[in-house]
Amino acid sequence: MDCIKITDLSYRYPTAEEDALKQISLSVKKGELCAIIGANGSGKTTLCNAIRGFVPKFYKGDISGNVLVNGKDVQKEDIGSTALEVGFVFQNPFTQISGIADTVYEELSFGLENMGVAPVEINRRIEEIMELTKINDFRDRNPYQLSGGQQQRVALAAILVMGQEVLIIDEPTSQLDPQSTDDVFEIIRLMKGMGKTIVLVEHKMEHIAEYADHVVVLDKGRIVMEGMPKEVFANPKCMEYHTRIPQSTRIAIDLIREGVPLLDIPVTVDGVIDRIDKAMGTN
Ligand SMILES: Nc1ncnc2c1ncn2[C@@H]1O[C@H](COP(=O)(O)OP(=O)(O)O)[C@@H](O)[C@H]1O
Ligand SMILES: [Mg+2]
Repeated sequence: MDCIKITDLSYRYPTAEEDALKQISLSVKKGELCAIIGANGSGKTTLCNAIRGFVPKFYKGDISGNVLVNGKDVQKEDIGSTALEVGFVFQNPFTQISGIADTVYEELSFGLENMGVAPVEINRRIEEIMELTKINDFRDRNPYQLSGGQQQRVALAAILVMGQEVLIIDEPTSQLDPQSTDDVFEIIRLMKGMGKTIVLVEHKMEHIAEYADHVVVLDKGRIVMEGMPKEVFANPKCMEYHTRIPQSTRIAIDLIREGVPLLDIPVTVDGVIDRIDKAMGTN
């Protein structure tokens, strides 16, 4: 079943002379991780905001086409009810902290309190999610005193606690070091395991190759490529859109160019090792 279904969506910001999104049609199945890649300014964040209804509700401007989330047209729903179905985490962890909580525990509780969830249930959910996301150690710390990586884990835990089935995550690791990036992806793996439907904007192609089911390349507001990671990354066209490709894919392409007969172009390190082993074995 399509969890997110976008049909012929075009959108222009109020002051802009060009559409930021051009005839976007995209389906994301329930439980799928769909990665959106593309150069700066290609429309990734705008597309994320269209899925949660902020485009056009908050940003105004002209829109045509529609976005259905679980069958409901987000342009017709109010932002509050869409927010109950779609969770959102973005680039800068610092700006996601509410500023009203003294501890991580409180930070996780206040969204649920606003929803009127019973205290016992709030406590149960928070304990469970803190355990799963491994943020228990800093439960009593002030969110502002955490590192960027820890803050981002709190932001991810905060949407998990809310329980939405659809999660939009816009460049969660762009300000993080490699270790914190891996920690964030551990949580994304957990989210996948829970069956969440995830739209992820990310520049770290090695991680996309490993985790994504479906990759969409945007260029100047248009979808220019779409498919499984290996279809997209192994296609030489991919590099024309200012997107990096995974290092393993690059190595494989170089090896083939040097005459090593690899069976196909892998997108992960394990894939490269496997293809080299096979190429050696058959030589
Ligand atoms: N609030 C805004 N008002 C006007 N133009 C905007 C606004 N936000 C983004 N844009 C423009 O829309 C295009 C897409 O931006 P964005 O979705 O932020 O791209 P990305 O996330 O891929 O970097 C860019 O040309 C950008 O300048
Ligand atoms: Mg962006």
